[in-house]
This record gives sequence, C-alpha cells and structure tokens, in this order.
Amino acid sequence: MRWPPPLPSRVEYSWLLSLPFRRLTIRRRLAAIDSVVGRPALVVDLGAGTGVVAELLRQRLPRDLTSRFVLVEPQRGFLVRAGRRRRFEFASLEGDATRAPLRSRVADVVLSFGVLCCLNFESLPQALDEIWRVLRPGGYLLVSVPRWQGPGLESELMVRGFVRLESMRPGVSALQKPI
Ligand SMILES: C[S@@+](CC[C@H](N)C(=O)[O-])C[C@H]1O[C@@H](n2cnc3c(N)ncnc32)[C@H](O)[C@@H]1O
Repeated sequence: MRWPPPLPSRVEYSWLLSLPFRRLTIRRRLAAIDSVVGRPALVVDLGAGTGVVAELLRQRLPRDLTSRFVLVEPQRGFLVRAGRRRRFEFASLEGDATRAPLRSRVADVVLSFGVLCCLNFESLPQALDEIWRVLRPGGYLLVSVPRWQGPGLESELMVRGFVRLESMRPGVSALQKPI
C-alpha cells in the first residue's frame, strides 16, 4: 500500500469513513446495484477499513439470508475497530489486496471502495488480477475509486474481461466476471 496513505486510510482517522453523508452515498451506490447482486453467498470486502460498506450491504440483504462476509484489511487497527463497531457477523483477515489470503473463485461479490486509489499505480494490475482470481465466474465487483489519479483503470478492468453493468459516475462501477 502507498505510504503515507490519504487521511481516511489512516486508522486514527477511521471515523471519517462512517460519517452520515458518506453512509448515504454508499447506500445510494449499493441501491443502484441491488437488482444485479441478488443473494450472495460470500461477500469479500477487500481493503475493508472498519467494514462500513460491508455492513451497509448486509443491511440491504434479506434477514434470513445466510450470506457470509469476509473483511480483508492490511492494517490491524482497522480490523480491531471493525470488531468493536460493526453489528453483523463477519470473518476478518489481515492481508493485502495484491496478495489476497483467499482461495480462487470463492467470492460472489468483491467490494473495493476507496482502496485502489491507495495503491501504488504499479500495484494496480496485481490487485485486479487478485480480484479476478478470487471472484467466482458470474460474481460481481463493486468498485469505487473517487480519487483515482492514475491512468488506465477502465482499460485494466476491461482487458481482464470484466463486463460493466452499471457506471454510476466516473470511478464508481458494478462489473461482472463472465460465467
Ligand atoms: C479510504 S479507506 C476505505 C475503507 C473501506 N473500503 C470503506 O470504504 O469504508 C482505504 C482502505 O484501503 C486499505 N488499503 C490500502 N492499501 C491496501 C492494499 N494494498 N490492500 C488492501 N487494502 C488496502 C487501507 O488500509 C484502508 O482501510
């Protein structure tokens, strides 16, 4: 990960990630893809921070659903805070998006909110390869990179074969790994 990371990616500023306005924005983005995501069995939040995005997605799913959530995060302090603050069941793994500690083709949904913009540009292909590897065929990637300043994110996604389903605005997309 790029160091020092931008403010909300530092543990001491983690409260910024859960501000009401941000929650509202995330809810809107998740609502836009409700119909495509359906009923996931396994959701992986890759670069989860305090897990607020995963929690908001969990709240959108039917209560009886036996979805499992895995939060992957390189900074242990975030996982500690996720454990204290989140009100849903999840597994947490300390790990990096460029070497995800997960088996291949296991995830129905990968969440990547505000993470790719924290990487060194050179690490982007590796992180996208990992997302592709971890997703099962037919699985979804929900990606948000509001501060992307590097070149080539769109083309890096397309060249791997992702199909774009929704583009909510530049840098915010729902994509599918074809079956
Ligand atoms: C802006 S925060 C977003 C957190 C969370 N996704 C959210 O939207 O609330 C960026 C997160 O990406 C994590 N991160 C940075 N580099 C990473 C990497 N190489 N692999 C996985 N996560 C990374 C940071 O530790 C931080 O938790």
